Amino acid sequence: MEPVVLDVGSNLVKAGFAYPDQDPSMVFSTAMVKTKDEEPEKSDSEDEELVLEDIVNPISRGIIKDWELMEDLWRYIFYTGLGWEVGNEGQILITEPLLTPKVVREKVVQVMFETFNVTGFYAVEQAVLSLYSVGRISGCAVDIGHGKTDIAPVWEGALQHNCVKRMELGGDDLTKLLLEEFSRNNSERKLDLATAEMLKETVSAVADDYAAIMQDCPVEEHILPDGQVIEVGRERYTVGEAFFQPSLLNVEELSIVESTFRCVSSCVPSENQRQLLENIVVCGGTATMPGFDARFQKEANLLATPSVRPSLVKPPEYMPENTLRYSAWMGALSIRSAIDRKRYRNRLCILRCTLECSFLWL
Ligand SMILES: Nc1ncnc2c1ncn2[C@@H]1O[C@H](COP(=O)(O)OP(=O)(O)OP(=O)(O)O)[C@@H](O)[C@H]1O
Ligand SMILES: [Mg+2]
Repeated sequence: MEPVVLDVGSNLVKAGFAYPDQDPSMVFSTAMVKTKDEEPEKSDSEDEELVLEDIVNPISRGIIKDWELMEDLWRYIFYTGLGWEVGNEGQILITEPLLTPKVVREKVVQVMFETFNVTGFYAVEQAVLSLYSVGRISGCAVDIGHGKTDIAPVWEGALQHNCVKRMELGGDDLTKLLLEEFSRNNSERKLDLATAEMLKETVSAVADDYAAIMQDCPVEEHILPDGQVIEVGRERYTVGEAFFQPSLLNVEELSIVESTFRCVSSCVPSENQRQLLENIVVCGGTATMPGFDARFQKEANLLATPSVRPSLVKPPEYMPENTLRYSAWMGALSIRSAIDRKRYRNRLCILRCTLECSFLWL
């Protein structure tokens, strides 16, 4: 049986068996629904009207916060979604956000072996896997997800731990910004968070020149799922701009491009910096916004010294279309055989027999 690759993000679960060059077989919302007897479970029915308080999420900003919910979610993935049978579980390759606390990682391992009886376990940082997904082992991954953003220089497969940056900003913050902007311009109309998120995914875009588009921005009509027609104008570009001007989100952060350059410039030796900037992987759902790559490239060109040509790496043509959207999951496919190899045991890979002898590898 192929190992299972699991990338459970703040917004989307990406899971499936590690068959080469394929999208994850399961992609669905991480959010769960609290049913009337207080038991949270995945909702298959769209009929019942849900109120916001019914929706719970075991993950916040990439990190597991509710272990009971998380176990329910894993159980659903393994036994209902992927068809594992109790007593015949397989191996698991799990993706981790940057700077995952050690206590969280230890607990994941414990639950995987003790509750789910996995026969092998391996964990790798999402940003490193994103680089692998485009066939690189050296470069800088910029993963902009729902709850967090990870910037990770990687040299010859090794994460440069001292140079990474984790920003507590993601698509969720953009959704809330859209909601705020929309309410300010349309005081008589109220949108809920789910509608705002859907709207964001449909209309938001990054302007090549934000100041210019703000001067002269077309207003477009959009039909919401409930049939309401709304007008969207500048909001769509304000949302797109937030990663380039984080002050729009009321946070003190450098722009995403400056942050990337800052991480890379702290890498030693300095000869490596050029290769890192010439192999940038911009990935994650939020970075799929139209115009994001072009603007990133434009600003990177302006920041770079004349001898460096910053470049955003694209996946090879034979890879599935959604490779950058699911990059951590896709990158994990390239190391799926790792959990069978002895030489990985001293890192984060353990087989059941290794675990029973020692827990020291953490
Ligand atoms: N076309 C789009 N425009 C803007 N945002 C988008 C678009 N498509 C997806 N998103 C956003 O991308 C985010 C989900 O991305 P992703 O799957 O990378 O996050 P995640 O892995 O669940 O979260 P994290 O890695 O932060 O824990 C959501 O906020 C979603 O609204
Ligand atoms: Mg993610």
